Amino acid sequence: MDTLNVELGTRSYPILIDAGLIGRPDVFRQHLPARDVLVVSDTTVAPLYLPALTASLGPRRSVEVILPDGEAHKTLANAARVLDVLIANRFGRDCALIALGGGVVGDLTGFAAACYQRGVAFAQVPTTLLAQVDSAVGGKTAVNHPGGKNLIGAFHQPVLVVTDTRTLATLPARELRAGLAEVIKYGLICDAALFGWLEAHLDELLAGAPAALAHVIRRSCEIKAAIVGRDEREVGERALLNLGHTFGHALESATGYKEWLHGEAVGAGLAMAAAMSRECGLMTADEAARVRALLERAGLPTRIVAVTPAAVREHMGVDKKVLGGRLRLVLLRGIGDAFLTADYPAPALARTLAAHCR
Ligand code: NAD
Ligand code: GLY
Repeated sequence: MDTLNVELGTRSYPILIDAGLIGRPDVFRQHLPARDVLVVSDTTVAPLYLPALTASLGPRRSVEVILPDGEAHKTLANAARVLDVLIANRFGRDCALIALGGGVVGDLTGFAAACYQRGVAFAQVPTTLLAQVDSAVGGKTAVNHPGGKNLIGAFHQPVLVVTDTRTLATLPARELRAGLAEVIKYGLICDAALFGWLEAHLDELLAGAPAALAHVIRRSCEIKAAIVGRDEREVGERALLNLGHTFGHALESATGYKEWLHGEAVGAGLAMAAAMSRECGLMTADEAARVRALLERAGLPTRIVAVTPAAVREHMGVDKKVLGGRLRLVLLRGIGDAFLTADYPAPALARTLAAHCR
């Protein structure tokens, strides 16, 4: 088993990575001793992995909430449903929640854990590539509001992340590609070697090769754990993890969260961030072309034809990186060198939106 630590003082926690971990009672006995646990999952993941997880939890009180599948269900109402079940079962502050699923289940469960009795323990058991490389690590929890994505949330770290790489065998190819967008993001932010590795090994990843997937999960978690360890509350460096997301979130909300998976919107957002960096003269044409080529090979969208540039610009205005009325963007000085700035020419943004939206 591969173990990494997210170093946050008294709130530090391990990320365990291996094939078959969900079926290992010793893992949960050792790292999650709570007597009362509430497992949250969705209607797709629960039939696949809940029986094995329940068996591994052993003889303790285990209650389940199975949510409908999909981003549209990452709502305050469903978080309230989880809280209702905790209260109905008289769970105390020493209980633990377990999120079994992708980023939707993970974000919502973490948010419910942050709220219940002012904060109880929760473990992430991520089952999508996106959740294994990104959303299960770092303690950002949230639900969506009709006015914007992730607008209601809290920082609340898990006590444990159990990444069972075998779960990726059942993940649909489209979801795997969406997760690769976040991996490409890490290479672009701070690891040119990872980006080069992805260029060389993308076909293995797309074919679901376990060793290649384990490699990118580990490297992505290392990068994210290090950044979160230095800047848990996103006062500085952590904002870099939002590379491509200001564009991506706007694309998602402008299309009503129906058209694109989160990772696909991030893929288009990465293409836009690279193109904008080129527009600003920060990145070479060759590097911008490499970014676009890798995204295209990964089967990710690099432009969005269903929305107007004006609609996307409007949705970018509610981004959490707006400071003093000015929209800050994560841009690239090159592959592996991202930075946050409010200092960019407005026409460069307008040209980027025009080139990538209808
Ligand atoms: P998701 O949770 O909707 O999962 C994608 C789909 O795959 C769902 O249909 C799910 O049922 C299915 N699925 C999950 N695991 C499976 C498996 N092993 N086999 C078969 N099907 C499986 O989406 P996601 O892409 O995992 O996460 C997206 C969410 O994560 C978004 O809400 C996004 O905002 C959030 N996110 C949060 C953070 C963070 O730091 N908290 C970071 C990135 C993304
Ligand atoms: N996915 C962005 C973050 O965790 O900060």
